[in-house]
Amino acid sequence: IATHEFIAGLPKAELHLHIEGTLSLSMKRKLAERNKLQLSELSFTPLKVPPGSTGQKLDILQYKMFLDLYMQGLKVLHTVEDFYDLAYAYYEECKRNNIIYAEISFDPQPHTDRGIPFAAVIEGLQAARVEAAKTLGVESRLIMCINRDMTLESALQTLSAAKPYRDHITGLGLDSVEDGHPPIKFKQLYDLARAQDYELTAHCDVDMVNAAEHVRQCIEVLGVRRIDHGINVLDDPTLIDTAIERGILFTACPTWRDGDPQPRRVDRIKKMRDLGLKVSLNTDDPGYFASGYMNAMLPRVVECGALTQDDLVAYMRNAFDGAWLPEDERQEFI
Ligand code: ADE
Ligand code: ZN
Repeated sequence: IATHEFIAGLPKAELHLHIEGTLSLSMKRKLAERNKLQLSELSFTPLKVPPGSTGQKLDILQYKMFLDLYMQGLKVLHTVEDFYDLAYAYYEECKRNNIIYAEISFDPQPHTDRGIPFAAVIEGLQAARVEAAKTLGVESRLIMCINRDMTLESALQTLSAAKPYRDHITGLGLDSVEDGHPPIKFKQLYDLARAQDYELTAHCDVDMVNAAEHVRQCIEVLGVRRIDHGINVLDDPTLIDTAIERGILFTACPTWRDGDPQPRRVDRIKKMRDLGLKVSLNTDDPGYFASGYMNAMLPRVVECGALTQDDLVAYMRNAFDGAWLPEDERQEFI
């Protein structure tokens, strides 16, 4: 059966997805209008590969460029209804893409820093989550991501703000600008979150400075069960052994931007799997990346990464295996 049809028919799980990263240009326009906002042109500029983009320093600059765009864009989100609409639009994409289970990250700090109450963010997301399960049959969990370029204090305050909504939030993550903000900065936060029974993950973005050391800190200092991206585990053979031993799941994202010749990181993702590491495939920020949602991204990953349909099934199985679900509920998906 042809790749596109096979992928469309495959029941999928997505574990690495930023809800603010699903903001389409049309959603931005709609919310900007509804909230009577005047936004800079920057907010409506699609992400493009800058000319001559190779080498590590440039990769970091590109992450920063993307994150600037993302932080500009999310300013259209103000009310409970805005967060609801954003999340529900993603759930409709899940339905279209046959994603039957999703773990959705959100970033409270760039909202609360603008004076948006934590309650507005979580109440909108939670209402959409409940409605999507009921109406679309899409199940999901929420992951609260801390912006690592902000202070530990701000992170601790955010964990406190989440306390009344503990039941709605399954996991804790770490994202945003990594350069100069190693995982160890957040040891205290992760210890507290573990004591509150949060599931734990953290980003280790691809090809950052000290990338493998950051992966090591996530596993050994923060005690995560998953790592978002984490491709640079490949740089350190002993770390590969540790990750395999502990059953760490790497939520990889073979996305591409306008101008990228092909999905990024596919060779390394394949190598990770060949070495026996657990990897899943995810779209990360489909509103910003040209790769878009699963049914658009995966066929090109198959075409250029020489994956078979069986490989794809194995990647999806890894996602369901690594999902933060009680065992009885997991069985319903497999
Ligand atoms: N925030 C949203 N997407 C991100 C990514 N891919 N890396 C770091 N922070 C992010
Ligand atoms: Zn991410």
